[in-house]
This record gives sequence, C-alpha cells and structure tokens, in this order.
Amino acid sequence: MDIQLSVQQLSKRYHTGEGVTGISLDVRKGELVTLLGPSGCGKTTVLRSIGGFLDPDSGEILIEGASVLKSPPEKRPTSMVFQGYNLWPHMTVFENLAFGLKIRKMKKADIQKAVKDVLDLVRLPGSENKHPGQLSGGQQQRIALARSLLLKPAVLLLDEPFSALDAKLRHEMREELREIQAETGLTMVFVTHDQEDKAWPKASGRSISATSATISINAGKAT
Ligand SMILES: Nc1ncnc2c1ncn2[C@@H]1O[C@H](COP(=O)(O)OP(=O)(O)OP(=O)(O)O)[C@@H](O)[C@H]1O
Ligand SMILES: [Mg+2]
Repeated sequence: MDIQLSVQQLSKRYHTGEGVTGISLDVRKGELVTLLGPSGCGKTTVLRSIGGFLDPDSGEILIEGASVLKSPPEKRPTSMVFQGYNLWPHMTVFENLAFGLKIRKMKKADIQKAVKDVLDLVRLPGSENKHPGQLSGGQQQRIALARSLLLKPAVLLLDEPFSALDAKLRHEMREELREIQAETGLTMVFVTHDQEDKAWPKASGRSISATSATISINAGKAT
C-alpha cells in the first residue's frame, strides 16, 4: 500500500489543556480523507501540525516516508487552504495565483500557462484580471484552492474550505473538489464539522469515521 501521509500518535496540548491526544491516520496516495468532528474537537490542530504551523508535543508525521517535523511550512511538501480565503485584496486573481510560482522562479510564459490551466480546472476561466472583491465567496474560495493546486503539493490540506458558503454552493463545491481530485490524482485531507461531508461522492475517497470512511475526532481523540 502506497502511504503518502502517515500521522502517528500525534499529541498537542495547548497551555489551557485543550488539544488532541494520540491521533493516528494513514492516507494513501491519491486519496481524499475527511476529518470529521464537532467544533473545537481539534481538527485544525491536526491539520496545522501536518502543515508545519504548529509544533506537536509528541508523535510523528511522515510524508512519502520521510519525517517532516523539523521542516518549516514552506519547506514541507504540503499546501493548506485555510478556513478564510486569505487572498490579497489589492492583487488581481492572476497576481494572487502567480505569487507562489514567481518565488519558485518559474518562467513568465510557464506561469501564464499554469494560471490559465488552473483557472479552467476550478471553472473560472478568464478571471485573471479581476480583484478578489469582485468575486463571490464561492469564487474566491475556488481561487484560494487554485493557488494551492498550483504548488503541486504532495498532500493538500483543506480546513473547512467551504464553511462560509450556503448549503447549495457548498454541495456544488464538494462535487467540484471531488472532480478536481479525480483529474489531478492529488492526495487530500479535508477537515469539516459538517455531517453532510460524509456523503462525499465516493470514488477513491475515504472519510474516516464510524462508517470507516471518515476519521472522527471527538474531544481531542480519534474515535
Ligand atoms: N492557540 C490556542 N491556544 C489555546 N487553545 C487553543 C488554541 N487553538 C485551539 N485551542 C483549543 O484547542 C481545541 C481544538 O481547537 P481546534 O481549532 O483544533 O478545533 P477545530 O476542531 O478545528 O474546531 P472548529 O471546527 O471550530 O474549527 C479547542 O478547544 C480550542 O479552544
Ligand atoms: Mg478548525
């Protein structure tokens, strides 16, 4: 079995005593795993630990077999879509998307092609010159997703990326994310407190939980 991400006995307690204890999960290459649990149960804590934004107290995190615990976020083969959109309002869609690629010193023509392709993928073709303020919430969230996709991470981390959207749009975005995942073969960890997310269109997806397809976290422990 080709394990892309392995979290082993991860524990993180904040000074308040809250946090997570003994979380373990394995995600296979090309798989979409859902972390499901109520607000405050520790989902973001797990995701931020994987992305390198938090230092766990104990446990191990392996990506493609190598420990990433000592690497800062920008050196990890991960990319995270946060609960907010985190787009730069003064930059156009193109500039928002090109930023990370310029840092990687990608050639201008290649950046233009990559941005065009990813905008097709997230169904917002031709929106390069718009500013985030001219887009709806769902469209902004798709740009934030596109920005992460462009970095071609080994593992894409999504923290309730659609929670700000209304139910209908949330449903559509879930379907689209599933299609994007099928098209790109990306490994994804998707965090949600929405029971509805258990009903992902199946395919290669596994959501770990009571149904054995979603990982449930409750009061800081995997259940
Ligand atoms: N920086 C912090 N300092 C102290 N306690 C924190 C900190 N961040 C989170 N916590 C606490 O740790 C627990 C887990 O928080 P976390 O953000 O991981 O939950 P979550 O499952 O992502 O919740 P939500 O669904 O509301 O986003 C909560 O009880 C929270 O209050
Ligand atoms: Mg959270």
